[in-house]
Formats: sequence, C-alpha cells, structure tokens
Amino acid sequence: MHKKLLIPGPTEVSPQILQEQTRLMMGHRSKEFSDFYGGIGGKLAKFFELPSDYKPTTTTSSGTLWFDIVGRCIVKKKALCCLNGAFSQRFGEIVRNCGKEADFIEAEWGSVVKPDAVAEKLETGEYDTVTMCHNESSTGARSPVAEVGKLLKKDYPDVMFTVDSVSSMGGDWTLPHEMGVDILFASTQKCFALPPGLAIAFVNERALERAKEIPNRGGYTDILEIFEFEKKHQTPFTPNVSLLYALDKRLDLMLEETYPRIYQRHQDMAALTQKWAKKHFEMFPEKGYESITVSCIKNTQGKNVKELNQKLAEKGLEISNGYGKLAEKTFRIGHMGEWTVPGIQQALDWIDEIWGLAK
Ligand SMILES: Cc1ncc(COP(=O)(O)O)c(C=O)c1O
Repeated sequence: MHKKLLIPGPTEVSPQILQEQTRLMMGHRSKEFSDFYGGIGGKLAKFFELPSDYKPTTTTSSGTLWFDIVGRCIVKKKALCCLNGAFSQRFGEIVRNCGKEADFIEAEWGSVVKPDAVAEKLETGEYDTVTMCHNESSTGARSPVAEVGKLLKKDYPDVMFTVDSVSSMGGDWTLPHEMGVDILFASTQKCFALPPGLAIAFVNERALERAKEIPNRGGYTDILEIFEFEKKHQTPFTPNVSLLYALDKRLDLMLEETYPRIYQRHQDMAALTQKWAKKHFEMFPEKGYESITVSCIKNTQGKNVKELNQKLAEKGLEISNGYGKLAEKTFRIGHMGEWTVPGIQQALDWIDEIWGLAK
C-alpha cells in the first residue's frame, strides 16, 4: 500500500501532478521551450510578487546546489553563517568547502540565531555575506529572517543575505524583497509538492553584480551563466523538462488557490498539530519560533516512532522520526504542499489510536 508522506519532505505528490510529467518531450533549445520556460518564470514572479530587480530561476538540481552557488559566486572573502541545525550547518560547511572563509554563530538546536547576535558579529566589518536557514527542517525552528534582513539593509547594505528557504518557500510567507534577502532558494519536493529534482531561486541584481567580482564560479554553479541564459528563457544545461511540466501545473494551482490562502492553510495545519503536540508532548523549538511547515515534537513519553510508522503504514501514512542526534528524542510531522487540515486531523486521530493517547 502506498504510504502518504507526512514527513518533512519529500511530501506527497498528487496523481494529477505526476501525470503532467508524462507529456511529450520538447527540445530545450527550441522556441517552444523558451515560450514555455518564460511562462514559468512569469508565474513565479507573479506568485511571489517579485519586483523588477529580482529574477526567478530553476535549476535541475536539488536545493543543495544553491549552497555551492552561494559559496562559489557570492561569498567574496568571508561569510557569517548562522547555524541552528543540520541544514544550516551544511550550508556553512559547504561555504568553507568552496574555499571561502566562514565564521559560524551557533544557536542551540531548536533555537534560532537572533538579530542581535548577527549585529554583534557584523560590527567587526569582517563579513561580506550572511547565510541563514529560514526553516530548519531538522529542528522545526523558523528563523527571524525578515528581522535580520531589516538589520542588514539598514546598517550593512554591502553584506549579501543568502537564505535557505528549502522547506518553507511557497507554504510559509517567503517574499524575498519583503524579507530583505538577496538570494532565496528552495527545492521542489517540499511546499511545491512536486517530485524532487528541481530547485527554485530568486536572485536580485545586487547579488549578480557581486558575482561579477568573483573568480572561479565553476560551471554548473556559475550564477552569471544561469542568468545569461535566463535572458532568453533558457537554462545553460539540459533541464529536467518533465519536472518543469509538473512545476508549470503546480504554479497554476498555486495561483488559483492564492498565496494568502495557502499561507493560512499552512498556519492552520501548524496550529492544529501544535495544539495536539502540547496536549500530549511538548514542542521542540523555542516558543515563538515554531515552523508552520514542519512540526518537531519532543517525544516526552518515550514513544516508539518506528513501531508507530509500521502501524501507520497499514493505514497508508508515514510520519518522520527526529533528525540525526534528535532521533528518538523528537519526531516530526511535515504539513506542507497539498496537505489540508482534515488530512492532518485524520493523521493525528490515527496516532492517538495507535499510541493510546487520550482524546
Ligand atoms: C532546510 C533544508 N535545507 C536544505 C535541504 C537540502 O535540500 P535538497 O535535499 O533538496 O538538496 C533540506 C532537505 O531536506 C532542508 O530541509
């Protein structure tokens, strides 16, 4: 039996979207493709209300490619990397791997790096780029990106702000210009409810200007090459056209539902899950910083998540254990994409039933 994915990604993909991928192929250097791909850019710009100095792009890659793009093409000399979980840590490590210097500010897992801590480090004047993860899928913590963005715009206008929005873009409210972010990126297998394999990014002119000053941008990672091809609505390398068909359909559905309604639906799913979690367990993230797409719950009753998933599998559902060092100490419910409140309620009822939790 198929298990519906209620994990922090990949999330469930509907048959309607899967079907889109069976459309016949087109050559990616054809006018037909440019028209089609230009349409996707237009829909992304419309949905995310991008001002004219921000450009959208898609890369045939998972989201992690953008850690490398930032490391290679945006960090000039030294980055300040905000770490509060596994993915933000990987971002920082990749920046170092790209041969750039990077200092890490580390918050406890479950907490977030606060704007004051960022300001204190930036005062040294040592950094040209800040990295942050908006929604730490490993801990369910949501970072105050817009507050940090505001601080940077006000006091450090030359510092680039690059943000991993992999598990929040399109579910949570993620307009890059409102957040003061220069590069914001995500993967399709999260809130876009598509199969994995594409990344979506928004990049502003400032970031492209910065990239021009930086040598050794690589090949697949060369952001200037990506946006050179965007001018003619193409990609530098062969794109996954089938996934782009699916993305095109998804954007139509998102535009139809509208962003405020999608955002509200994610807030409602998070509120329901948090209420349930607080009744039986505790939320893992610091109060006030809980994600609205991934709920990370402290397993205060020491319940067996593996056994739960075996029983949920019989009903056609899967949730997630904690990530890395948080396995067994926490468990996670990823409510994103096409999930709705009734679907989450059903899942919570089943968990109640299997674990014998009082209603
Ligand atoms: C917050 C966050 N950042 C980055 C990644 C890595 O994304 P990808 O696997 O698409 O490269 C993930 C994947 O789960 C994630 O949740």
